[in-house]
Amino acid sequence: MEVVPLPSVDEVATLAADTIEALVRSRPDCVLGLATGSSPVPAYAELVARHRAGSGPSYDRVRAFLLDEYVGLPPGHPQSYRATIARELTDALGIDADRVHGPDPSDPQTAGAAYEDELEKAGGVDLQVLGIGGDGHLAFNEPGSSLSSSTRIKTLTDETRRDNARFFDSFDEVPHHVMTQGLGTILRARHLLLIATGAGKAPAVAAAVEGPLTASCPASVLQLHPHATVLLDPEAAAGLERADHYREVYATKPDWQGL
Ligand code: GLP
Repeated sequence: MEVVPLPSVDEVATLAADTIEALVRSRPDCVLGLATGSSPVPAYAELVARHRAGSGPSYDRVRAFLLDEYVGLPPGHPQSYRATIARELTDALGIDADRVHGPDPSDPQTAGAAYEDELEKAGGVDLQVLGIGGDGHLAFNEPGSSLSSSTRIKTLTDETRRDNARFFDSFDEVPHHVMTQGLGTILRARHLLLIATGAGKAPAVAAAVEGPLTASCPASVLQLHPHATVLLDPEAAAGLERADHYREVYATKPDWQGL
């Protein structure tokens, strides 16, 4: 795992956008795995700004797969992750809706296996953008999730429903159920790019990066991945014991070794 503590949220966004653009330039038909939530928003805004300024790559052949989706929202609900990603990123980059895939929340019983099939037929995810929950959840894999799980229905904890209530009119409106890629699904992506910012993420980041591999901290599953990158602002990095070492590794890494 490469842990990169950076001086600011802006620098996290810039490096994340650089990494995504480098992939799209080298592989114009790549498969991007997209997370929703607040953490990647500055990086997505940076990609959109560069695209509008004409300095970004073409996304005409890029395909995108969502990490997760709420179950039980009416189709087209503005807080559905499909609507959110279209609004925040894919529409502005010109990635047509038919190239944006997500688990189908209308039929949770069959949608998990169907989504795994779709991912496999697409050749798998090249770069998976991830956030981390305050409780260490990854996508919507709450603590206790199997480390080898596949896409399936999950029940949100009250803590996660409270965290996400800011996007809804009230706590009661936050769905109890979601469809989420499993931790095993996420591990099959070829590169994982986790973005964490803010003091609220510091304990979860420390547990994921330096704690034991455990289903009690689902994001610790990154420790099993051969190519995982963790981008942090100073607040999110505050709980790391080896932060100075990570900074030194990043500052002295050979030029030929990208993220
Ligand atoms: C959400 C999402 C995750 C996200 C995480 C953190 O509930 N399902 O994909 O990474 O929780 O969200 P945020 O970035 O808003 O803090």
